[in-house]
Amino acid sequence: MSTIARTPPVETKLPAVGTTIFTVMSALATEKGAVNLGQGFPDFDCDPRLVNAVTEAMQKGLNQYPPMTGIPQLREAVANKIEAMYGRKYDPVSEITITAGATQAIITAILAIVRPGDEVIVLEPCYDSYVPNIDLAGGKVVRVPLVPHTFRPDFAKIAAAITPRTRAILVNSPHNPSATVWTADEMRQLEELLAPTDIFVISDEVYEHMVYDGQQHQSAARFPGLAARSFIVSSFGKTYHVTGWKVGYVAAPAPLSVEFRKVHQFNVFTVNTPVQHGLASYMADPQPYLRLPAFYQHKRDLFRAGLARTRFELLPSEGSYFQCVDISKVSDLSEEEFCKWLTSEIGVAAIPLSVFYGNGFDQRVVRFCYAKKDETLRTALERLAKL
Ligand SMILES: Cc1ncc(COP(=O)(O)O)c(C=O)c1O
Repeated sequence: MSTIARTPPVETKLPAVGTTIFTVMSALATEKGAVNLGQGFPDFDCDPRLVNAVTEAMQKGLNQYPPMTGIPQLREAVANKIEAMYGRKYDPVSEITITAGATQAIITAILAIVRPGDEVIVLEPCYDSYVPNIDLAGGKVVRVPLVPHTFRPDFAKIAAAITPRTRAILVNSPHNPSATVWTADEMRQLEELLAPTDIFVISDEVYEHMVYDGQQHQSAARFPGLAARSFIVSSFGKTYHVTGWKVGYVAAPAPLSVEFRKVHQFNVFTVNTPVQHGLASYMADPQPYLRLPAFYQHKRDLFRAGLARTRFELLPSEGSYFQCVDISKVSDLSEEEFCKWLTSEIGVAAIPLSVFYGNGFDQRVVRFCYAKKDETLRTALERLAKL
């Protein structure tokens, strides 16, 4: 009897997911020798003290499985930081969990609370993993737009989207892609809106330490009514310029953390031991994250000063490391065609905002990332000066 090697057909769980624009634009940028201001990661290295701390941990033999929830020293460092920054004390034992980056934290929180048929509100434009995460949990995505061009939350629209089936809302401040930062008043409005409900909040705060012009990050941790229902997610990758290390954390009240950890346990189980030890000792000094606003504000200002000499209309960049511009005065192309043209013909890669919307909404706005060496930004600006 002959056997035939046959791969059974796969019925995809994620029919809408294909190659992302980030991959497309990065490949095009490499092919054309363009300056890649598309994908959001630094082109400079992290503090060598952090690398030394991780190396030391490895050399000390800290190379086996850590506790499932993260090493105690790192959970304590995170809890202390949150208390110092936002005034809320999380119990490092029962309320802080170390994750393999924010992406894993977000899908884990969604899988922990969203049941088939539950509705989950996302505010568009939104980070690209949210919608497929909700799909995988069997939830129903309810898309509510932020106000076009200003990207402020529209609470009347959010209120109108809430139903008895709403299980959770995902919020993200400082915001990718728009670079807006929610005000205390906006956070309070969310707190009031949710007060009579049992809706959970997944608060994506990966850019928490990148807020400019003397403004403060309004973490959900500052607002008791939000903190009580929130999974607060952050990422060491963003804060310490180590996006490739993929380590982050979740802070959530104990009953939420219990459910989170049930999923986490059978998803990643544990997170890289020596990196956790390195981060824990590095965090003893708060200066690296306290100095981050000044560090990135300098880059933002350098980039904006150059862009101001072009015909782009600059949108505010209140936080994160993104700068959005309106392209209307520069081109009639769609956002996506414009980004391809900009990469090929001008030699600078950007990302169209339309990819952050389910329906591809095109408002003539594209996103640059300024987490780059000053010389990289200057090279990009020299090329963009033609516009
Ligand atoms: C808004 C937002 N959330 C989450 C992430 C993912 O963070 P991590 O690399 O820690 O998984 C990113 C990274 O770009 C992001 O911009």
